[in-house]
Amino acid sequence: MIKKRGKSLCLFSGKGGVGKTIITLNLAGIFEILAKKVLIIDMDLTSGQIALALNKPTSKTIYSFADDILNNRFEKFSDYVTRYDDLIDIFACPKDPRQAAKIETKYLEMILDQAMNEYDVVLVDTNHNLSETNLSILDKVDEILFVMNNDPLDLKNIKNLVTIFNQLNKTNYKIMLNDSRDPLKKYFTIYDLNSILKSDINYYISDESYLQNMDQFIMNGEIATLQPKAATTISKDFAVYTKIATEFLKKEDNKNE
Ligand SMILES: Nc1ncnc2c1ncn2[C@@H]1O[C@H](COP(=O)(O)OP(=O)(O)OP(=O)(O)O)[C@@H](O)[C@H]1O
Ligand SMILES: [Mg+2]
Repeated sequence: MIKKRGKSLCLFSGKGGVGKTIITLNLAGIFEILAKKVLIIDMDLTSGQIALALNKPTSKTIYSFADDILNNRFEKFSDYVTRYDDLIDIFACPKDPRQAAKIETKYLEMILDQAMNEYDVVLVDTNHNLSETNLSILDKVDEILFVMNNDPLDLKNIKNLVTIFNQLNKTNYKIMLNDSRDPLKKYFTIYDLNSILKSDINYYISDESYLQNMDQFIMNGEIATLQPKAATTISKDFAVYTKIATEFLKKEDNKNE
């Protein structure tokens, strides 16, 4: 069997708006700093925001890829990728949400397969639905990062997900508690969460990481972790993102041994 070049990480959550997209972008920035070639696939098919957040107009999307294959117009994978910078590319979600329903899961799987042959790191941003599409993506990626906020409803959602994963003996997930999304919401302590979930919170972004200028980054199409001196100006978040990235890559080494 041909060894794949890269490895994939999917960000998933039990509810919407927990910070998946922002975290995906910040992780892409860290992987770039680690000199990895990154593809961000926006599999939030109805409301993806990766290309929008990075101010990148897209000519080709996941929908064009599927449609072109179906109609024998497909030539090469790179035609469908939008360049952000030297090391980060984007595979954009459909421009029109009505196109999402027309994309069969097999095309998403083809994109993932091809991406892992061409990139060191493939980051998959999703929406939070446990749809057939998302389930098959979760099944196919190498690692999953569940992102949660600190509130009772989200805890119940994540507990459900973790229970399902444990029943299926799927252990390729880590859990991130993101308190930066909503600094006033801190219902549980990490101790509470660990014992309720019966699973560890692996990564924690604290309320101190609430970025007042987040909207500015989005307006400018910038990635916070790629800003000059980010390692000192947002040192705590930067350290957490670096830990996630290095542990992910280390696991890659083990996998290829
Ligand atoms: N560290 C942060 N500081 C300030 N605002 C943040 C931070 N992280 C996330 N946000 C804000 O929280 C909101 C939700 O974030 P984001 O869009 O990344 O969540 P999501 O999980 O991708 O949502 P969806 O499920 O709708 O795709 C955004 O408006 C974003 O700017
Ligand atoms: Mg999102």
